[in-house]
Amino acid sequence: MDLNSFKEKVMPSFEKEMLAYIGKDLTKKEKLHEAMSYSLAAGGKRIRPLLLLATIQTLGGNVKKGYAASAALEFIHTYSLIHDDLPAMDDDDLRRGKPTSHIVYGEDIAILAGDALLTQAFEIVAASEIQLEKKLKLILALAKAAGPEGMILGQMADIQGEGKNLNLEELQLIHRNKTGELLKFPIYAACVISDAIPEVAEQLVKYAEHIGLAYQIRDDILDVIGDVEEIGKNIGMDEAHNKSTYPGLLTLVGAKKALDQELAAAKENLMAVEYISKDSTKPIKINLLEEIIDLLVID
Ligand code: IPE
Ligand code: IPE
Ligand code: MG
Ligand code: MG
Ligand code: MG
Repeated sequence: MDLNSFKEKVMPSFEKEMLAYIGKDLTKKEKLHEAMSYSLAAGGKRIRPLLLLATIQTLGGNVKKGYAASAALEFIHTYSLIHDDLPAMDDDDLRRGKPTSHIVYGEDIAILAGDALLTQAFEIVAASEIQLEKKLKLILALAKAAGPEGMILGQMADIQGEGKNLNLEELQLIHRNKTGELLKFPIYAACVISDAIPEVAEQLVKYAEHIGLAYQIRDDILDVIGDVEEIGKNIGMDEAHNKSTYPGLLTLVGAKKALDQELAAAKENLMAVEYISKDSTKPIKINLLEEIIDLLVID
């Protein structure tokens, strides 16, 4: 199956299940529910759920078993965007092609909608029908990826790096944490859910690390040359906030080269997965994850 067929087959039912978690208890939490749905349903590329579900498919597992963890991850990612856009953070007024949460609902409700998405994410995984031991691994990994050793660490360093001349190593640390960790989680989660053998899991997680860094390099590049309509957010914001970015440090050409290098490294990890499994009864087909690499190429 190619990536487009996989998306068509899986993503609409995942989307429906994810949105249903918000619930419809309008009597008690009408505004909160509305604000949570607003940001979650605004669109978004769903790359993190896609990575998780495509990896389960790659490993020959049951894709539906990944819905809860994927929904939880997208809840957390969406919360991170709502808070990232707040006036005290990146002060953005456009996200996923729509006015940001605080523009529509005010800062107070935007903060609470983010808090609610973050907290409910853990409820979703905890209440899901996954074997207890696996569930615990997922909850632990998700907390680490999103927390003070992961995404928050990166966001903190991103803010503290404003107006500074960071070196490449410092910049990589920001990108690996603020963005990379939430892109690594779906691959790790899929390996846990589908009982990947350790050698395969190791290569897949390395693939995810390269994809994670590539994703933020790409985001930095698009902040310079992206199309507002297409990416659904304003451009030029990094420069306006004196952010440290790949194009800022390496020039646009250098940033594109770094992106290509990460994507090439990700591909090598997939080749290793193919090689490791070649003599097994079910050799692993890597085409879905390969196509995800292709999605990230900038010409
Ligand atoms: C935006 O993430 C923030 C980054 C971590 C780069 P996405 O580019 O995945 O945003 P959506 O989910 O598609 O809106
Ligand atoms: C986002 O980094 C990282 C998050 C944890 C949200 P950016 O600040 O570059 O993301 P955009 O460009 O606003 O989507
Ligand atoms: Mg930011
Ligand atoms: Mg931002
Ligand atoms: Mg950005």
